[in-house]
Amino acid sequence: MSGAAVTSVAAAGVLGQAAPAFAASTSGVGSFRSYPFSLGIASGDPLPDSVILWTRLAPEPLAVGSGMPQRKVPVHWQVADDEAFKHIVTEGEIFALPENNHSVHVDVRGLRPDRWYFYRFRCGSELSPVGRTRTLPALGATVSSFNFAHVSCQNWINGHYTAYRDLARENLDVVFHLGDYIYETQIPVTTPRGIDVAAEVRAPCHSVDEYRLRYALYKLDANLQASHAAFPWVVTWDDHEVANDYAGAADRGKLELERRAAGYKAWWENIPTRMAPPVGPDMKVYRRFAVGNLVQFDVLDGRQYRKGNNDPVVSKIGDEQEAWLIDGIGSYDTTWNVMAVGQQLGGVAQNSPTRNRIYQAYYDRGVSPVILAGDLHWTLVSDALLRIPDASSPIVGSQFIGTSITSTGDGPGDPATVTGWMKNPWVKYAQGYRGYFRHTVTPTGMTSTQHNVQFVTRPDAPGWDAQSFYIDASRPGVQLL
Ligand SMILES: [Fe+2]
Repeated sequence: MSGAAVTSVAAAGVLGQAAPAFAASTSGVGSFRSYPFSLGIASGDPLPDSVILWTRLAPEPLAVGSGMPQRKVPVHWQVADDEAFKHIVTEGEIFALPENNHSVHVDVRGLRPDRWYFYRFRCGSELSPVGRTRTLPALGATVSSFNFAHVSCQNWINGHYTAYRDLARENLDVVFHLGDYIYETQIPVTTPRGIDVAAEVRAPCHSVDEYRLRYALYKLDANLQASHAAFPWVVTWDDHEVANDYAGAADRGKLELERRAAGYKAWWENIPTRMAPPVGPDMKVYRRFAVGNLVQFDVLDGRQYRKGNNDPVVSKIGDEQEAWLIDGIGSYDTTWNVMAVGQQLGGVAQNSPTRNRIYQAYYDRGVSPVILAGDLHWTLVSDALLRIPDASSPIVGSQFIGTSITSTGDGPGDPATVTGWMKNPWVKYAQGYRGYFRHTVTPTGMTSTQHNVQFVTRPDAPGWDAQSFYIDASRPGVQLL
């Protein structure tokens, strides 16, 4: 599709240009010396009548301020039935504000359910790439099938986003990103990317401008842009959007909270999310939505409310979120209930009080969840037992831990790790190539397929479907196909 035709990382070449990238004009719009939609376009958080459209004006994406003036700039947006924009459905104007690094989030309303749409932006005389997005089926509607993927962990320094090349070609209704969209750590001078990156962009992220530059660097990737342009995304975060292994705020001082506020602000600016922007170091990200009568999705925040990584007593997701999750189990009365979280709620083979409470609540209600997670940088598929490590414990649901887009680099990793996990009878499959999961859910079953790429340290790796799995809607637990 044309939405995939986006600016490549070559746009980074504008860094260091002497002349301002944006010249004010009397019309209030101005003209650009370089392409302002260098970071592409995106859509997200679809509802039956609405979707969020996103872009950020960045004629100099790897410069602080992105080459934009310190004033608001009008951006025109359009939604059409067709890719050629012959049948415009709705359009409007929104201001890109300097305090939001000239990002925009358009909440388009009045759309029809269960439909593809095309969208684009215009600023001055510049047109954005075309994106494709989709609304959800109406609440309670009979839905015969729904296709989605889940991805996570895209450390830029580990290599190429070839998995996103393949993802963009899939047949999907929505993509879930379960965190580690960026990594905040120092970028080495030499990486498999083979791109010279200025020192201020490579520096570890602490300030909002440092996080903004990191998002810009990542979002210049053409394959990532293509996957955003092809489907609406639902995004939550894990730890690296702020700092490795950060856990809530309990053991944090003022500096750490300021860092969290900076990370959250840049995340909000760069993600096509419906959620309200952060207030200081606080931002509500967890949310719930339903796909007709077929699936309820609960998207969790596994980081902000943690009270230490290994506290056995306090909830890993915070008391308030945990109560919200448990109270809402089965609330849409759908065939399937899918929980999406960055890091799994417990260890692969370790007891976890948070997980025990939540699984018990599902079990008591007779609801069998499918849990999607990331974080591990391994594919790991297992039955979700009521009590781990008691192998005789009832199967409550199923868990798919996705691998990573790039993080930790080329697969397949250490076979001893796989062997260790497979000793647990509830673990059905473990594997260490980079890639993603795609899932098709119907009223009778869910089919999931793990897609791999051969390597990430060089571009253009071959990709392949490694293994498929099936869950029968009437019986919890995963079968290998
Ligand atoms: Fe990660």
